[in-house]
Amino acid sequence: MAHVRGDEANGPMIITDPQHMHRDVLAARSRGRRVGFVPTMGALHAGHVSLVKRAAAECDDTVVSIFVNPTQFGPGEDFTRYPRTLDADIAAVAGCGVTWIFAPAADAIYPNGWATRVVVDGPARRFEGELRPGHFSGVATVVCRLFMAVPADVAYFGAKDWQQTLVVKRMVRDLGVPVEIAVCPTIREPDGLAMSSRNAYLLADERSRATAIHESLMLAERAWFAGDDIAAIEHAMRSHLAARGVAVDYAAIVDRESLEPLSSPVANAIAIIAGRLGTTRLIDNHPLPTRG
Ligand code: PAF
Repeated sequence: MAHVRGDEANGPMIITDPQHMHRDVLAARSRGRRVGFVPTMGALHAGHVSLVKRAAAECDDTVVSIFVNPTQFGPGEDFTRYPRTLDADIAAVAGCGVTWIFAPAADAIYPNGWATRVVVDGPARRFEGELRPGHFSGVATVVCRLFMAVPADVAYFGAKDWQQTLVVKRMVRDLGVPVEIAVCPTIREPDGLAMSSRNAYLLADERSRATAIHESLMLAERAWFAGDDIAAIEHAMRSHLAARGVAVDYAAIVDRESLEPLSSPVANAIAIIAGRLGTTRLIDNHPLPTRG
């Protein structure tokens, strides 16, 4: 693939070699440039674009990585059908001020004989961690590996994957990885559905019923402010989802930092949902403001 210098005229420079990526980022930083990094699995949508625009606004150079990470998919999950749309992804971020797209092959990230995994406990334990064994270890491993290849000043993650952001922050803190983590707001469709690459799997009828996820989060916020107790709010979320044909994996209100039960019934809460429509599994969340 041609390596052209990333700029508005030529578009971003596409890099596949981790060492080359590492060299370029270090060279930029040694010239005093602040480097932002947006790790993705591609299939870029408006949520990703918002991360990229924020990185470009706050940094001198921006790297977007595109790598469908095999180790974060469990057996029977959607690794093989996950959309791979490199050309469309490059077009999606054209004009957003991206300097480099890092698109390594699997064996550049996991070379032959690869035998190392990063395992995070704490925030990785419940919810997605319970339902998708090995998922967060796969995420922590690849994010750690990507941070080695892309030694940026700051990395940007979307709040939609709230538990993932907690796992990444804990991994960075525990291993002393010298990168700042910025968590950016969830971007939604006009009807409230959180942007996700997996929305593309939804059939028309599933797509219309998927709004029940955001509706349940809004219902939770109203009940929260009305002073309802946690068990009643969780029950109301589950009932609304079930009534719209969403199979509920969980619908819970928990502490937004630990994902454990709330220690205060008024503050630091987040409503989190995972539900399935047909073969598509979606997650979403909504932090609940302190209530009187
Ligand atoms: O959120 C994602 O797209 C992925 O989990 C990430 C962080 C790029 C790691 O593969």
